[in-house]
Amino acid sequence: MELISRMMDGSVSYDGEHRLEPVLSRAAGRDDQSRLKAVPIFEGCTEKQLRHVADIARILDAPAGSVLTRAGDPGDEFFLILDGTVRVEVASGRTVSLHPGAFFGEMSLLDGGPRSATAVTETPARLLVIDRANFSCLQREVPELTQMLLVTLSQRVRQVEAREEQELSQH
Ligand code: CMP
Repeated sequence: MELISRMMDGSVSYDGEHRLEPVLSRAAGRDDQSRLKAVPIFEGCTEKQLRHVADIARILDAPAGSVLTRAGDPGDEFFLILDGTVRVEVASGRTVSLHPGAFFGEMSLLDGGPRSATAVTETPARLLVIDRANFSCLQREVPELTQMLLVTLSQRVRQVEAREEQELSQH
């Protein structure tokens, strides 16, 4: 099981090597549900669907420097940033900063492969976390979510290709 799951279910409370402070998690509540309305990937959701998201999600408060995914590790959680900034260290040493409303961790859940990148909180961050089983269930119950995931994945591929092209043209 991924370290973050064990920290969230309480079987591991603190990894001194990679995390600066304990990571706290709790079930999502009503306040979180109302915040979800403003998140682009949940824009098209009904109140009932948002309630379902809030029911299955957990809220993770992570200090700056927390490693949430590690490239090459198996991955079991989807993360959505509610507050703070997360730095994704992608292939060839590039980094991408993700801000509130952005999500990550979907690739391993979609294709079952290892984490493609390391994601570290740049600032203290609050994240909505959905585990693999609930993510699959959510995809069935909220088809709009899959549509939004595909749009974001397409945009990320385009950004990577545009950056590569720009680098090639500079050489
Ligand atoms: P996953 O592979 O499960 O875990 C690492 C995550 O980093 C990955 O899912 C994506 O959500 C995210 N990620 C990988 N590459 C990029 C990229 N080029 N831009 C933004 N996010 C990325």
